[in-house]
Amino acid sequence: MGYSEVSKDLEKVLKFIHSDKLTDKEKETITNDTVEYFDKYVSPGWLKYRKSVSTNSATVEWTDHDSICEGLYGEEFIDCLGGFGIYTCGHRNPQIMDTVKAQLDHQALHSQELLDPLRGYLAKAVADITPGDLKHCFFTNGGAEAVEMALKLARIATGGRWYISTVGAFHGKSMGAISMGGKNTYRVPYTPMVQQVQHVEYGNAEDTRKAIRNLIAVGEKVAAVIVEPIQGEAGIIVPSDGYLKELREICDEYNVALIFDEIQTGMGRTGTMWRCEYEGVTPDIMTFGKAFGGGIMPITGIICRPQMWTQELIDNPWLLGSPTFGGNPVCCAAALATIKFMVDNDIPGECSRKGVIIKEGLEKLKAKYPTVIDDVRGTGLMLAVEFCRSDVGYSVAKGLFARGVMTAGTLVNAKCIRFEPAAVITEEQIAAVIERMDEALADTKAEFGL
Ligand SMILES: Cc1ncc(COP(=O)(O)O)c(C=O)c1O
Repeated sequence: MGYSEVSKDLEKVLKFIHSDKLTDKEKETITNDTVEYFDKYVSPGWLKYRKSVSTNSATVEWTDHDSICEGLYGEEFIDCLGGFGIYTCGHRNPQIMDTVKAQLDHQALHSQELLDPLRGYLAKAVADITPGDLKHCFFTNGGAEAVEMALKLARIATGGRWYISTVGAFHGKSMGAISMGGKNTYRVPYTPMVQQVQHVEYGNAEDTRKAIRNLIAVGEKVAAVIVEPIQGEAGIIVPSDGYLKELREICDEYNVALIFDEIQTGMGRTGTMWRCEYEGVTPDIMTFGKAFGGGIMPITGIICRPQMWTQELIDNPWLLGSPTFGGNPVCCAAALATIKFMVDNDIPGECSRKGVIIKEGLEKLKAKYPTVIDDVRGTGLMLAVEFCRSDVGYSVAKGLFARGVMTAGTLVNAKCIRFEPAAVITEEQIAAVIERMDEALADTKAEFGL
């Protein structure tokens, strides 16, 4: 395509973005273009995984607010998927958006040479809201990138080379992060990957102790134990009380860094600002992300205890990483406004209170449909419903979608559907979700003869 045609094509798209009100013709164009371009230019495989395509005609998202995602034609969905934990403060939270706009009005990205002040303010704020002596921050752009930094920092700080991770774990899909991953389907195409990893049973601290002890016995040195305080992608697996504390004791005993991946559990989602606070445990390194940018900007990072920031790093601060966009001003502005919104509005408390209401509703549905639902679990607004089979779960997720409720059940894995709505979801919306789920369950039960 010639550049003049590219320009004309893009003029059309930019007009859509700038438009206050799209015409029906424009909406039709956007819908058709989206389906065609996803298939041709994004990935020929994606469309069949989206409920928004497999149910009726394609639903293209265009606007959102609070707990609601809206399609081009004004179709409304109560968002219980919550971007897998991004939207704790809601969609386009007005206070956070105001701050981002104000920052954009004077500077978007940093010079990479002068001192960018928001990085410092944000690092201090993160240290202020994290437990114990967690202090030094490093900001990144995505969750997997934060995990990479945590893994590298553990090696520098301890001199160890091995990692202990857990079966079922999810830490992202970059090469280092996926090496820690505990799900075979995500790993198999990429083996061999980082070699020095042992996977142990999640929730079983004794297994971790044995793995470390055995490695030491054969002359190896362990850098870190990495765990999610609650496993998210695995289907919201909450370990028994005391697990995190025991891991802390084991890591102290063997001089191994303890990494908590709080990318999904952090920032209020489970009812405390960080899940590790529930057990009163401070890790050596903690990752954060998802909700950290307020559902508006992508920003993630790590924070560590002072002893992790060794003299080698003080002497060579570029050693850990230097991502071009990591900690840029507009993303820092979003994270600063997010932290303020969270502490001013007791967002962890809201997650806890509303989580109890949703969980009670889901448990009642489990009692009503015992042949369909196997389990309801989780805490705060990190909840899951496990179905008797994956195709049954997908049918319920589709039934919910058709009734204007978005959840995380996908064609690949719907045995377990996650509920991670915004903390700003209203009690009326929660009641509507439970009522619509009741209807969807009745349909599924009849369809499968359960
Ligand atoms: C616990 C945890 N760690 C890491 C990641 C990876 O984050 P990202 O998708 O931003 O790379 C996720 C994403 O779901 C996660 O839940």
